[in-house]
Amino acid sequence: MGRKRKLEHFAEMKSFPHVFEPELKEVFRTDYKLSGSWKQEIFANENPLVLELGCGKGEYSVGMARKFPEKNFIGVDIKGARMWRGAKTSLEEGIKNVAFLRTRIEFIEGCFAENEVDEIWITFPDPQPKDRQEKKRLTGPQFLKRYLSFLKTDGIIHLKTDNQFFYDWSLEEVKRHGYEILVSTADLYAGKIADFDEKTQEILSIKTHYEKIFTEKGHKIHYLKFKPNGQDPKA
Ligand SMILES: C[S@@+](CC[C@H](N)C(=O)[O-])C[C@H]1O[C@@H](n2cnc3c(N)ncnc32)[C@H](O)[C@@H]1O
Repeated sequence: MGRKRKLEHFAEMKSFPHVFEPELKEVFRTDYKLSGSWKQEIFANENPLVLELGCGKGEYSVGMARKFPEKNFIGVDIKGARMWRGAKTSLEEGIKNVAFLRTRIEFIEGCFAENEVDEIWITFPDPQPKDRQEKKRLTGPQFLKRYLSFLKTDGIIHLKTDNQFFYDWSLEEVKRHGYEILVSTADLYAGKIADFDEKTQEILSIKTHYEKIFTEKGHKIHYLKFKPNGQDPKA
């Protein structure tokens, strides 16, 4: 994308009513003004709240919002130029149950209050394969701890990735840091998807930008579903 186009998209994002771009001082070691009140203030309902972390162009958030009008969705990413696509599409289609939050996921704890979130999707996160990048992996201990601070005790986290290393690593980290595995498969479309209920199958059939690319390359899609195990991770 050209620089001029990018700047136009950034400017347009500022005018979108369902895009939130907190400044660093609004989320760094402090609670964002919407923490605890997204449903009431933004969606004007009490429906369950679902986050997509690293939403990129927001295909999953928008796709799920179309299919499930009885839930609220928020796509989170730091890259505004990508997020613009999902924000624009949802506005054009008049989809009212999706919003976008442009922030680093490192600051997400300040954006949502205890028990505010029902479900999280982590869709094709950057695998950050080098040792020195370990802290950036979205299923690392620090991130898993952050999610526990706002996920309901019976909340669910889903991970989709094409990366075998990231999948194996996440499986271990999740078990070690306060969660219980509900479903794990290294090849989602080779059979397991047929075992899911109809609604889950519908969600899993939505393809993000990266999933389409990886599938065309012949990569297997790995999937993990997990929930808090109810034990204090500090204990
Ligand atoms: C490989 S892309 C996947 C995008 C989308 N989920 C998809 O499947 O098409 C990973 C996305 O995660 C975002 N991301 C990675 N680490 C992040 C962080 N710490 N905070 C916010 N966004 C992050 C990147 O900006 C990028 O858009």
